[in-house]
Amino acid sequence: MTLRALILGAAAGGGLPQWNCNAPNSASFWRGTPLTPATQSSLAVGGGEGWALLNCSPDIRQQIIATPALHPRVGALRDTPIHSILLTNGDVDHIAGLLTLREGTPFRLLATNEILNVIAENPIFNALDPAFVTREVVALETPFALVPGVTATLFAVPGKVPLFMEGDVVETDLMGEQTVGVELTSDGKTAFYIPGCARMVPSLEDRIRGAALLFFDGTVWTDDEMIREGVGQKTGARMGHMYMSGPGGSIEALAPLDIARKIYVHINNTNPVWRHGPERAEAEAQGWEIGYDSMEVTL
Ligand code: MLT
Ligand code: MN
Repeated sequence: MTLRALILGAAAGGGLPQWNCNAPNSASFWRGTPLTPATQSSLAVGGGEGWALLNCSPDIRQQIIATPALHPRVGALRDTPIHSILLTNGDVDHIAGLLTLREGTPFRLLATNEILNVIAENPIFNALDPAFVTREVVALETPFALVPGVTATLFAVPGKVPLFMEGDVVETDLMGEQTVGVELTSDGKTAFYIPGCARMVPSLEDRIRGAALLFFDGTVWTDDEMIREGVGQKTGARMGHMYMSGPGGSIEALAPLDIARKIYVHINNTNPVWRHGPERAEAEAQGWEIGYDSMEVTL
């Protein structure tokens, strides 16, 4: 089976444009010449029988409408080709779309124990009838069948608890069950999906070295981007995300790892790579592709 990966949403939380934002990328939609819009962070994988969603964004309804492969199939009054939804963390941009999928059609909801606890602690998710939506705990480093033809393995990457669960003291690069990457294997070929990663660590370098395909955290271009643009007080690091450019950035960190295809996803609306300017040109010159909604990649 040829693994197909469809970027349903290439943007980070907020999307592009973000509803309340007047920083240059979003402002292009309110005034001037709009950029291409992008919905919030999610990837669909499949290619054989049925699909899995990796994260379920607040824009899932719009994403399904835009993606014929995810439409109800002919033959049943209620149907979806979506078999499974796998979560890589408990952030709003990755879980809120679950509430849209509450109309009584079965699917598997898969995540680590810690991420499923975030769902369990928020009773609004009881809107997903347990008779239809089975919650399945996935242990780290344990391969499982995600969807027919695709095996997945979750692994810890540096990250933090969801923003809405933060206490007074926040560890921003915990290695545990709260932020994970996904290794996808089909017909002996391997792809990785890592939409959130606070920093590069040797274990992650070793894992992704030589990969055929990588979708990686492209939240910000510089660590202080949101501060510089005047839209926030937080650095990328404080939000649990690596920056792309310069010393210690993901472009530099991943350059020696011999990855055949590198695609940025979870790109924040403040990131200059959305524009066709020098930053995007630099990322592309370094072998990166900038993800976009409806981009299809086969493995
Ligand atoms: C993030 O990726 O940092 C989160 O999605 C932030 C948020 O929940 O708004
Ligand atoms: Mn996010």
